[in-house]
Amino acid sequence: MTVLASGVEAGKVSATARFLRNAWYPALWSEELAVGALKPMTILSQPLVFFRKEDGAPAALMDRCSHRFAPLHMGKILPGDRVQCPYHGLEFGTSGACVRNPHGKGEISAANKVENFPVVEKHRILWIWMGAKPADEAQIPDFAVLDTDAEFAIMKLDRIVVKANYELVTDNLLDLSHTSYLHDGILGNAAMVDSEISIKPDGDGLTVGRSSSNTPIPGLFAPLFPGHKNVDKWNTIRWSAPANMLLRSGVCEHGSAPESGTGYYGIHLLMPETETTTHYMFTAVRWNILTDAEANRTIRETLTKTRRFAFEDQDAPVIEAQQLRLEAAGGAISPVMLAIDAGPVRYKRILQRRLEEEKQQGLA
Ligand code: FES
Ligand SMILES: [Fe+2]
Repeated sequence: MTVLASGVEAGKVSATARFLRNAWYPALWSEELAVGALKPMTILSQPLVFFRKEDGAPAALMDRCSHRFAPLHMGKILPGDRVQCPYHGLEFGTSGACVRNPHGKGEISAANKVENFPVVEKHRILWIWMGAKPADEAQIPDFAVLDTDAEFAIMKLDRIVVKANYELVTDNLLDLSHTSYLHDGILGNAAMVDSEISIKPDGDGLTVGRSSSNTPIPGLFAPLFPGHKNVDKWNTIRWSAPANMLLRSGVCEHGSAPESGTGYYGIHLLMPETETTTHYMFTAVRWNILTDAEANRTIRETLTKTRRFAFEDQDAPVIEAQQLRLEAAGGAISPVMLAIDAGPVRYKRILQRRLEEEKQQGLA
């Protein structure tokens, strides 16, 4: 049995898939999909293939031919936005319908098609809609901070795969108390354990805040705010379903207005690959840059490298080990909840409501 991450409120372990279907999922960074390429991606345990049409617009089809199930990504793109299966040459249009059968009399039955999925390119991200409800572009979460062209403001558009359910990764991001332990010296420190936590509803999502007053500046922030030893430090992280998070992180002089300081937006996008593996896309965008161009070049490299190190080498090993512990327990354990779990508890409540709505509407 596959055991998933902690469940709702009481944190019970769930043994059923908790994938929201009618939602936008971040599949790829725009720059990861070249014209002419067929890019396979597994999303919610379904094999998909992404490609660009001749006009550059992105498209996605089920990566499984209707004939004998060969993966379409092993085939090729033909003129007219057609994907040709590598095995016996059936050709599919972007609607998923078979448009050419090179065999026999070339007949094409109505059943000869593969599923297609709406894909929208926005904020440097390819968003895919996995549900049966009509896709609503207005529901794409706001990551407009990524639309900037400012030099050195955006860090590398990066990704890792975490071998754990996406809810465990979300729990990590909505409870940043762990930065004082797992990321001690980089993103947090012992003085920041005693932080104030706030939770605010934010549209259909929520924002979790965490702030510390007059604390030693964490290592990653020191080059962004040179000459400061002690600072006020704050994070707010906005969650929207299923698992798209925008962090605003900053430091300022103790007692001064937060906007007078500097920091970055952390973009954290989770896309469940399977029940136990998650594509974790991340980058950062600096705000109120106070350093000069030469320093900014170095800071870009440092932020890119250090954040990846924090997520890949510090967060992921613990989260993956949690997943294994949950699996080993076979779903028979419940977590003890602490004050720091306020964010995770609240997002799970919203996620659970959305999942139940889908079930009731027959959309799950
Ligand atoms: S498996 Fe695709 S054409 Fe036969
Ligand atoms: Fe972390």
